[in-house]
Amino acid sequence: MISIIILSVLFGQVATRITPNDLSCTRNNGTDNVYSSTAASCMNVMSDEYCRVAYIPQTPFDLPPAEGNDEDRPLMCYTLGTATPSPINYDARTVAIANCPKTCGYCCLTSAYKCNNLAYPRVNCAAVTRAMCLSPIWRQILAEDCPAQCGFCDLNGCIDLVVGCENDSSICHTSGMEQFVNQNCRRTCNKCSVATQSPCSGRK
Ligand SMILES: *[C@@H]1O[C@H](CO)[C@@H](O)[C@H](O)[C@H]1NC(C)=O
Ligand SMILES: *[C@@H]1O[C@H](CO)[C@@H](O)[C@H](O)[C@H]1NC(C)=O
Repeated sequence: MISIIILSVLFGQVATRITPNDLSCTRNNGTDNVYSSTAASCMNVMSDEYCRVAYIPQTPFDLPPAEGNDEDRPLMCYTLGTATPSPINYDARTVAIANCPKTCGYCCLTSAYKCNNLAYPRVNCAAVTRAMCLSPIWRQILAEDCPAQCGFCDLNGCIDLVVGCENDSSICHTSGMEQFVNQNCRRTCNKCSVATQSPCSGRK
């Protein structure tokens, strides 16, 4: 028993559980508090490289916050302390949410998630998965009915159905691409007021 403890300490492989002092963007899976599907479902504002250096994992074995895992965030995300549990420092947390929300598992606290889903959505928002939020077939309905589930709160129902439109907005003006962008790149190309079979502002 003692040798197990000594080995664990030596190798630091006992992952630290998510601190009970800050259970934001977590859910209980029956036995443990684990990160929810909206904990790391956004991009860092600063570069990933900066965030990795600024928010060092508590041990080299720690996994970064991701859906379903239960290892504590890098300490600098939420405290000036050096041990778990440490008291929350709200300045540190505010800075982390603003700059490195993905690295810190704070995506659900960003403005993209700060709105209400429709009171009577066409689909059960709680059952919507990350894959559905990314699917061109679902995205328009989810932007309108379940924006807080997918992190679409800043979009006001106007969304690109496919990823990548924003990488090259010159396609908005490429001849032969008009039909494609009117359907698929409505946000990037500013086409949300153009009527299609599925108007953006159909439901509010
Ligand atoms: C809860 O999550 C932990 C950590 O990922 C895992 O080890 C455990 O098996 C999960 N429990 C259930 C009931 O899924
Ligand atoms: C497209 O945009 C994403 C997100 O902004 C970026 O990570 C990626 O490197 C870009 N790809 C290209 C080819 O510009």
